[in-house]
Amino acid sequence: MTTKTLFVTGGAGFIGSALVRQLIAETDWRIINIDKLTYAGNLESLATVADDPRHIFSRADICDRAALDALFAQHQPDGVMHLAAESHVDRSIHGPGDFIQTNMVGTFTLLEAARGYWGQLDQEHRRSFRFHHISTDEVFGSLGEDGAFNEATAYDPRSPYSASKAASDHLVRAWHHTYGLPVVVTNCSNNYGPYHFPEKLIPLMILNALAGKPLPIYGKGDNVRDWLYVDDHARALRTVFEQGRVGETYCVGGNAERTNMQVVDALCTLLDELAPRQDRLGYATQKTFVADRPGHDKRYAIDAGKLRRELGWSPRESFDSGLRKTVQWYLTNPAWVAHVQSGEYQQWLDRHYQPGATA
Ligand code: NAD
Ligand code: TYD
Repeated sequence: MTTKTLFVTGGAGFIGSALVRQLIAETDWRIINIDKLTYAGNLESLATVADDPRHIFSRADICDRAALDALFAQHQPDGVMHLAAESHVDRSIHGPGDFIQTNMVGTFTLLEAARGYWGQLDQEHRRSFRFHHISTDEVFGSLGEDGAFNEATAYDPRSPYSASKAASDHLVRAWHHTYGLPVVVTNCSNNYGPYHFPEKLIPLMILNALAGKPLPIYGKGDNVRDWLYVDDHARALRTVFEQGRVGETYCVGGNAERTNMQVVDALCTLLDELAPRQDRLGYATQKTFVADRPGHDKRYAIDAGKLRRELGWSPRESFDSGLRKTVQWYLTNPAWVAHVQSGEYQQWLDRHYQPGATA
């Protein structure tokens, strides 16, 4: 019996590492984790699977065709789950170049490498192979007061990040329609949970609160996001990879819409309970309004009905239970946080890890 071999790109990032940890724990698959280790990639997020022989890490750039061809030839995967991306909207506003390169050129390069490999497989393996592209609800643009995005919503991306992800989604679908590559696509709402890099809203607020720093709320704090606990997203990804219909798109969301102000208030309340300030003043006193993000999308919400009806997925965590787990994780993992914040991890990486090396 041979077990399944899967490529996961971006498996050292926030969602990718949650997916890898879950797949190693819950399947017998071999995972080839392909990651460039940018500022957002972190091998410490993979510490629990580092010694597992079914987890093989390769530091490689998805824009590097020769490196990808060599990995396909060496490992002969049964499929690809593609998460590698530049992912932070604020960074895309200040420096869009990396987003064009990784999200668009990188996805193109990976598609071409996958197509070359897939084209040489026998008929049975050509049929069972999957290329799963992991994307965001931000490609759909911004909603008004009502309604939710679904698989039929027209694309209307508004930031360099969402435009580059939209372009990558179009490329993946084009490779299916033009070349027959068996793809599935998922578009998910905002994730949160452990190991989240502290430049995104939820980890940033937790860590600023604990450090006694201001909690910077963009604009009026009335923008709305639809939050999903990261392990629920990982479970949805596995469900779609295994059972999704070829050529189809599935929207993934937690049905947990909150304004940013509601999110920050919920975090302050949890921290007041779990790690109260010494002066007993509430953490909410640290809230600060700052200049709004340019082009800030007003509201995102996902209708995940297709995924629920067709494949039986639904989230296990509510926003309250997931947020509590998340705050508890940051309180009990100060070493991970300290390394990420101090740059110590990056220095270690530079000293010990050369591109192309396999751990
Ligand atoms: P992340 O920024 O935490 O991780 C991205 C990973 O990709 C990092 O490990 C990084 O080192 C790696 N990477 C970046 N450029 C690379 C390159 N050129 N070659 C190889 N590896 C590279 O991102 P995330 O939040 O884990 O998001 C993962 C995916 O899910 C992205 O495609 C993102 O668009 C999508 N997504 C994210 C969210 C969210 O809320 N975070 C929601 C929906 C969809
Ligand atoms: P973010 O975590 O960057 O995710 P995205 O932009 O992909 O939705 O931001 C989530 C929301 O929080 C978004 O409306 C912007 C807002 N925000 C703040 O108000 N302050 C902050 O410091 C950050 C990082 C985000």
